[in-house]
Amino acid sequence: MSPPAPDSYLKRIARAPAVRALLIQCGAAPLTLAIIYLMASFRLPVDYWSVAVVQGLLAAGLTWKLGLAVWWRAIQLLFPVALLAAQALHLPSWLFLAVFLLLLGWYWSTFRTQVPYYPSSPAVWDAVRQILPPPAASDGRPLRVIDIGSGLGGLVLYLARQRPDAECSGIELAPLPWLVSRLRAAASGSRARFTLGDYERLDFGRYDLVFAYLSPAAMAGLWRKAAAEMRPGAMLASYEFAIDARAPDRTIRATEAEDALYIWYF
Ligand SMILES: C[S@@+](CC[C@H](N)C(=O)[O-])C[C@H]1O[C@@H](n2cnc3c(N)ncnc32)[C@H](O)[C@@H]1O
Repeated sequence: MSPPAPDSYLKRIARAPAVRALLIQCGAAPLTLAIIYLMASFRLPVDYWSVAVVQGLLAAGLTWKLGLAVWWRAIQLLFPVALLAAQALHLPSWLFLAVFLLLLGWYWSTFRTQVPYYPSSPAVWDAVRQILPPPAASDGRPLRVIDIGSGLGGLVLYLARQRPDAECSGIELAPLPWLVSRLRAAASGSRARFTLGDYERLDFGRYDLVFAYLSPAAMAGLWRKAAAEMRPGAMLASYEFAIDARAPDRTIRATEAEDALYIWYF
């Protein structure tokens, strides 16, 4: 594994929409206080709800001005009011911690990667199986396949069952899906291997097939990494999301209802 450039994480965290949204809420707070102070000095009614509404309106306006995606305006507008509403429910404080830990385990650094969990279907898994080279084509050594962002492990477990000659593995950043995939492999006696980690620290040069089901935000970086590291004869497959920098060499649709599976040969 090779570490990414030292400042790249910090830069990407600072650019992440969720972090920008949080900074906007912080930036709106002094303006809200100033407006509430003015409202109070004109003897207008002021309570926590009016503070939340003013804060939400200011944050939504700044969000629009700074060009964040359109859905962030609604999130920013509703966030302070939702905070007050949640407080008014008088729920036990441990519940907030429990839900926070659950979401943290499930999403981990989705705010940075902009790749949340959603699964591919068995039809896609089978389309991936069909593009694998036959056993004889891999010079006697086992074929190496990896799902980068393996989620609950469905694709890797399927390929490990279907291709006993191949080394099938997955790498997942979020601890909870990774744990589920490990438990599923152990419970079914599968040879599939699951690693907890960041695929950006992985050497793609070890694999014959790298499968990705990520998001548009990840594709440019994925291509730079694949182009730099993948060996001649290897394949990169991406479900649903194409790469702007290079047209795919092949496109398959598992079923008419499915999105495309894009394939690049090296
Ligand atoms: C859309 S899901 C796909 C899950 C699985 N590959 C499938 O096909 O069902 C994307 C997964 O990638 C994981 N992920 C995102 N960025 C990652 C990274 N840099 N390293 C490892 N996993 C990552 C997310 O946590 C999420 O579980």
